[in-house]
Amino acid sequence: MQVQLERPVTLPCGAVIEHRLAKAAITEGLADPRGWPTKRLERLYSGWADVGFPLMITGNVIVDADHIERPGNVIIDRVPGKAQREALEDWVAAGRKHGAHLWAQLSHSGRQTQKSVNGQPLSPSAIGVGLPGGLFGKPRAMTEAQIVQVIASFRRAAEVCKSVGFTGVQIHAAHGYLLSSFLSPLANRRDDQWGGSLDNRARLLMRIVEETRRVVGPEFPICVKLNSADFQKGGFVLEECAQVALMLEDAGVDLIEISGGSYENPAMIGERGGGKSADPPKRASTVAREAYFLECARALRRRVNLPIMLTGGLRSRAGMQQALDEGIDLIGLARPACVDPVSFARFLIGESESLPCWEENLRRDTGLLSNNSPLSLVRTIASFAGIYWFYEQLYRLGDGREANTRATPLLSMLRVMAAERQIEAKRRKLRKTGATTGNLTVADIQAARLRTVRD
Ligand SMILES: Cc1cc2nc3c(=O)[nH]c(=O)nc-3n(C[C@H](O)[C@H](O)[C@H](O)COP(=O)(O)O)c2cc1C
Repeated sequence: MQVQLERPVTLPCGAVIEHRLAKAAITEGLADPRGWPTKRLERLYSGWADVGFPLMITGNVIVDADHIERPGNVIIDRVPGKAQREALEDWVAAGRKHGAHLWAQLSHSGRQTQKSVNGQPLSPSAIGVGLPGGLFGKPRAMTEAQIVQVIASFRRAAEVCKSVGFTGVQIHAAHGYLLSSFLSPLANRRDDQWGGSLDNRARLLMRIVEETRRVVGPEFPICVKLNSADFQKGGFVLEECAQVALMLEDAGVDLIEISGGSYENPAMIGERGGGKSADPPKRASTVAREAYFLECARALRRRVNLPIMLTGGLRSRAGMQQALDEGIDLIGLARPACVDPVSFARFLIGESESLPCWEENLRRDTGLLSNNSPLSLVRTIASFAGIYWFYEQLYRLGDGREANTRATPLLSMLRVMAAERQIEAKRRKLRKTGATTGNLTVADIQAARLRTVRD
């Protein structure tokens, strides 16, 4: 039977998503220097709730303040005090005002933490990000105790998220961040129980899933965002993705979202990036061009029963319908939501047959200064600038302004980076004075009915 985009989907835990078009995670950069949600973040989510996404997955919510993905991330690295809890609850209320699902994407940036935040981030092995430009420091290989601590951090953040009203969590195991780097043989060269065989490389993710399920209970959706592949020689490959998906199915995960790539090779946004690439994403035939990971999702569909969300490049009704026809359960959308959320509402009610593809206007395919430049530094800057263009649009939506579609990516990048530097400077100052702790009282902890982490 052909499933239509408008049809609901029921997840294994019993949660129902009202239709098939979900907002995928988009790092917002709108938290305050403490990592607490702000009115700007509420405004952004209130707007997205208005246009009718049945499921919104937040951008990276960071479980360890030393490993933020960028300044302005929401951070949940402790049991929140009253004021922080209220800020989280207000954010959730804005996103859920029409009853949609709002899931927090839990994340640890690992070796992809910028040097300006942490010069020696934690990583499975001491292998740095292979990009020019000196944006990332030399990582430290994690000790057993640090790994155990990370498991506890994810568990605690999931517990907090449930208690403030999120209706699900997504564990971010894609795009080269910590959990994804544990899965990748390129970044994980450990020879203990956390490295080597696929079972070992997947152990951290599986332990986090187990612990999360234990604290959130059987009826709370747990999703995992997983790379179909790293798209790099010697990296995580599709066959391994299928095996991890089977492990996740056995562990009672409700949904896997399929994506791919890392900062070195940003296949998730259809870019080649500045890293060494064995297999740059193909931009040839129409459907392959539109849905970056359809072939991978198709292969997974044959192997696993759990629901699959496919994200990356999907813009036309025909392309989305084809994915559903092939057994994909949900379509994830990111960039269209950053610019003109109303275009999504129009699409939803059938007034248009496709969503705008802003990235096609931004990229240059040929030339020395293009996204395909022979110079790795140029490709790195071009792909980051393309992302920062969207970051700046999110700032504007958070301010209640319209997007500026005439902005130049490079200038957007410089402006957003300047804003990020300010946030990070304030954050450092606050951390020195201990002002980010929220000064917990025993009453706060009891009220939250949360267990403190003992490990
Ligand atoms: C501005 C921007 C921010 C993003 N932030 C996140 C994020 O926080 N977490 C994540 O898993 N993916 C993130 N992504 C990747 C998207 O979720 C998605 O996988 C990718 O953009 C492809 O979908 P699209 O073609 O619909 O944009 C981001 C992408 C963009 C462009």
